[in-house]
Amino acid sequence: MKKTRLILALLGTGIIAIQFCGPEKPESVPAHHLTGLPDEVNNIIRNSCFDCHSSQTTLRWYDKLSPINQLVYSHIQKGRQALDFSKWDSLTPATRTGILYYSLNKILEGEMPLPSYTTVHPAKSLSNEDIQTLKQFLMTKTLRDAAAHTPNNKAHQQRSGFADSTTTIFQSRVLPAPNGIEYIPDYRNWKVISITDRFDNGTMRIIYGNEIAVKAILECKTNPWPDGSIFAKAAWKQQTNADGSITAGDFVQVEFMIKDAHKYATTAGWGWARWRGPSLKPYGDKAIFTAACISCHTPQRDNDYVFTHPFTFKH
Ligand code: HEC
Ligand code: HEC
Repeated sequence: MKKTRLILALLGTGIIAIQFCGPEKPESVPAHHLTGLPDEVNNIIRNSCFDCHSSQTTLRWYDKLSPINQLVYSHIQKGRQALDFSKWDSLTPATRTGILYYSLNKILEGEMPLPSYTTVHPAKSLSNEDIQTLKQFLMTKTLRDAAAHTPNNKAHQQRSGFADSTTTIFQSRVLPAPNGIEYIPDYRNWKVISITDRFDNGTMRIIYGNEIAVKAILECKTNPWPDGSIFAKAAWKQQTNADGSITAGDFVQVEFMIKDAHKYATTAGWGWARWRGPSLKPYGDKAIFTAACISCHTPQRDNDYVFTHPFTFKH
């Protein structure tokens, strides 16, 4: 009996003692409303995400207890690094939409907010209604409805138009991107490594990988991707047909990421380039256009700046 009491006393003193030598508490600076978003969307993000993804963190007393605080503070630090809503005003409108779209995916997949956090703070979970609000807001940016009214054969014309224009492209040279990267027409012969559908801007995309990228996938050596890996992401508008099916409509653009850790050391190890429309017009005025690519791909820093989780080729 005496022994138990002694152990309890020792444990108690230990727990009190570690309260004085725990990790440093993260700073909290009030974060503004996110410009351009309706109040209801702002409230959801503020309530469920700001603790880890903004400069404003509200810690409860139990969050500050050692050793729990080690985990809490590390989540806040990593969360702020991955995505900081306090920097919202410095982002372009396209990046903001991209972030929201990506965030919604994380929420739907149950990855965000972190489950360990919502277990302790149930009021921070998103309700089904909150999720609907986010979806509805992103839907206001969709082109799907507009596409629904395009006559059926327009897509067909566009597709054959694209085929025609690419035939001419092989004859007349496509101009290089402002950073000097040359167009790579061969990408359409590469392996498809993923397909995505983005309802907020009404496009469907195919992501292709060149031979080096595909070999890396098969060998599970994709972080970092080996030099010489190239991805092409081609996007088409979604064409909604009379029977409700959705097919590829107008060709929108093709983008490339070319891995070379040395050559492209100043742009996160990748060469970035984009050609727009059936005429394959190089995108961007100056080489600095890549800053926007990198900034939106930065949440994937730990994944070598790549969003795509490639097909495994097992099925
Ligand atoms: C308890 C802390 C916490 C909360 C709350 C939280 N997150 Fe996160 N979030 C993190 C951490 C930590 C990471 C970094 C994960 C990593 O590096 O693997 C992260 C990463 C992300 C990323 C980037 C993912 C990536 O692959 O880089 C997005 C997007 C995101 N969170 C969205 C949200 C949204 C939206 C909410 C609110 C609905 C939210 N998070 C709430 C901790 C949190
Ligand atoms: C608004 C955010 C955003 C911007 C800006 C952006 N990307 Fe992406 N990119 C994504 C997302 C999200 C994906 C994942 C695939 C998808 O959802 O279509 C992606 C995927 C890619 C891929 C396929 C490989 C991968 O990472 O999955 C390439 C190639 C690519 N982007 C190139 C570019 C280039 C080049 C630019 C700049 C000209 C650019 N991106 C700008 C968000 C962005």
